[in-house]
Amino acid sequence: MKWYAPLATACIVLAACGAPSPETAETEAVATPPAEPAGTLNVYSARHYDSDKEMYKRFEEETGIRVRFRESGAAELLEAMKAEGDNSPADVILSSDAGTLYRFKDAGLMQPIESDVLAERVPEHFRDPDGNWVGLTKRLRVIVYDPDRVTPDQVDDYADLASAAFEGEVCMRSSTNIYNLSLMGELIDRLGADTAEAWARSVVANFARPPQGGDTTQIEAVAAGQCSVALVNHYYWVRLTQGSPAQRATVEKTSLSFPQQDSWGAHVNVTGAGVAAHAPHKEAAIQFIEWLTTEEGQFLLTTETKEIPLVSGAEQPAGLDRLPPDFKESELPLNRLGENQSEAQAIYDRAGWN
Ligand code: FE2
Repeated sequence: MKWYAPLATACIVLAACGAPSPETAETEAVATPPAEPAGTLNVYSARHYDSDKEMYKRFEEETGIRVRFRESGAAELLEAMKAEGDNSPADVILSSDAGTLYRFKDAGLMQPIESDVLAERVPEHFRDPDGNWVGLTKRLRVIVYDPDRVTPDQVDDYADLASAAFEGEVCMRSSTNIYNLSLMGELIDRLGADTAEAWARSVVANFARPPQGGDTTQIEAVAAGQCSVALVNHYYWVRLTQGSPAQRATVEKTSLSFPQQDSWGAHVNVTGAGVAAHAPHKEAAIQFIEWLTTEEGQFLLTTETKEIPLVSGAEQPAGLDRLPPDFKESELPLNRLGENQSEAQAIYDRAGWN
């Protein structure tokens, strides 16, 4: 697929097909190809938010670089880029979860970049050591529970989900979901593969129902009393607190626990970006990713999603004040999550976590 600026294309067609007229000289001048190299940026994004469209617009206004974007699921974007090969128009890949970013890198669809700006603003453990991707916002995978039936000390460790006390009380989404694969990636690193597998088997034994739905489904199931504990990314919970009266009524029946506060910290992941392997506009791509780490970029990335700004000092989106004020988060290098991904899926499969 090749993209064109509609206006420029129209001018070229006019110049080629228009009959001679007194305006011919002017028409030919307009027909000069537009200054493409510095002026365009193609973003392949696995995100779907109105605030991202505002983000692209602001970047355009501030830099004069025209942004064209293609939004789709991460798996579809990955397959599209493979099919496009060297001719891919993609400059920037924007996607959530280090495990997903790893898949693009592993498929050879990203290229390493060097940026002093990103090295200064983004902590090292949130960046690919080879420079293929960089984290931009944070997302915590934590425990949602029913405060009427569970006390906070019963859910202050991911290991608690495997406790016999929660027999028939655990709701989960599928293990093929990248959020669960990345959490298992960390558990393999922290606990060792054998202990991580024993954990998965015990959690499966506690299931209230077969894995199903997304993260919001798990919150709703806890609120409805179908189960008393589940795993959820923090922002789904925060969005409900900012939602309709019905959504607020649902979420207020539940609480969040940030586990491992006395040990290695809650499991943290990122939304991040990388420069495409065959980016036609590499400089603009780096400029855009750097801009996403400015105060304005950080705000626009998080205001609707309720992710957490990764750059210190950036404004917090509304609703994040519902999270614990000073939680401890893991500092495991996020590339480990990708490296452990196939082992994580094998462990879930053996444990019967579909
Ligand atoms: Fe999500």
